[in-house]
Amino acid sequence: MMKVCLIGCGTIGSELAVAIDSGKVGSATLLALFDTVEHAAQKLKLRLRKDNVAIFSHFSELTSSSEFKDADIVIEAATQAAAKTFSKHVVENKKDLLIMSVGALADEFFLSQLLSVVYTNGTHIYVPSGAIAGIDAIKSVKGMLDSVTLTTTKNPRALAGAPFFNSEPTRLNSIKKKTLVFQGTAADAVNKFPANINVAAVLSLAGIGIQQTKVRIIADPNITVNQHQIEATGAFGEMSLTVRNVPSPNNPKTSFLAILSAIECLRSICEPGIRVGT
Ligand SMILES: NC(=O)c1ccc[n+]([C@@H]2O[C@H](COP(=O)([O-])OP(=O)(O)OC[C@H]3O[C@@H](n4cnc5c(N)ncnc54)[C@H](O)[C@@H]3O)[C@@H](O)[C@H]2O)c1
Repeated sequence: MMKVCLIGCGTIGSELAVAIDSGKVGSATLLALFDTVEHAAQKLKLRLRKDNVAIFSHFSELTSSSEFKDADIVIEAATQAAAKTFSKHVVENKKDLLIMSVGALADEFFLSQLLSVVYTNGTHIYVPSGAIAGIDAIKSVKGMLDSVTLTTTKNPRALAGAPFFNSEPTRLNSIKKKTLVFQGTAADAVNKFPANINVAAVLSLAGIGIQQTKVRIIADPNITVNQHQIEATGAFGEMSLTVRNVPSPNNPKTSFLAILSAIECLRSICEPGIRVGT
């Protein structure tokens, strides 16, 4: 039995919790929900069949609870800032961590601190493939990559609110045709688009790192999907992958595939038996 505490009861967290609750995630069982917006955790709890799931609106309440002490794994599905604030405490308490706000791991010093605790404790940090495909192949050719480029095309409303636009003359609502709004390193992209481009961090961790991975972000008012194109070259050959994801109806920034990926990642952790894919 894999006992789970959840941080963040929004789009991803809610669907993941419902999947666990309905028995679709192997032996996982949900112990606690934590969200700084109390109503979010309460609303989610109403969707669950299990009636003894604890809810918390302060991290200190969660961490001093018996549910946290009993938990095997903590799932973060909140924000990059939350992931940075809470992850260390989770791993220091010898819990596995499944992280969705992967942009937090783009901070190489932060990542190395987490990993040193994880190595000492023999625990794990799980990073689902999220909204992209091809992570298995990128991992396999990690040592022979020359270049990796991610081109993400989203509707302007799926980019709204990104800190990038605070300092740029580009006005999202004035974009009338396909427009390249950002070009740079994955490190820069995850800082400037913390809620929009987690996939860049996932790709970097799997491949040639956050400084070497190149990212292009295109705003297209006519696109209805979240499109991610990965181009990779190296001694292995070339790779070209495109996913055109249906956005979640509750949060256009988040693709439906990201939710499914989190569910499958947890299921694969929980279930014994065959493991397909690298
Ligand atoms: N890895 C990927 O491929 C991928 C894909 C999509 C989204 N994401 C990331 O996953 C995270 C969750 O996405 P979502 O679509 O569910 O977002 P969401 O906005 O729908 O939900 C986030 C929830 O977290 C809560 N929250 C915010 N700050 C918190 C804090 N400090 N402590 C506890 N709860 C807090 C919010 O109240 C909200 O209920 C985001 O960081 C998002 O960028 C990752």
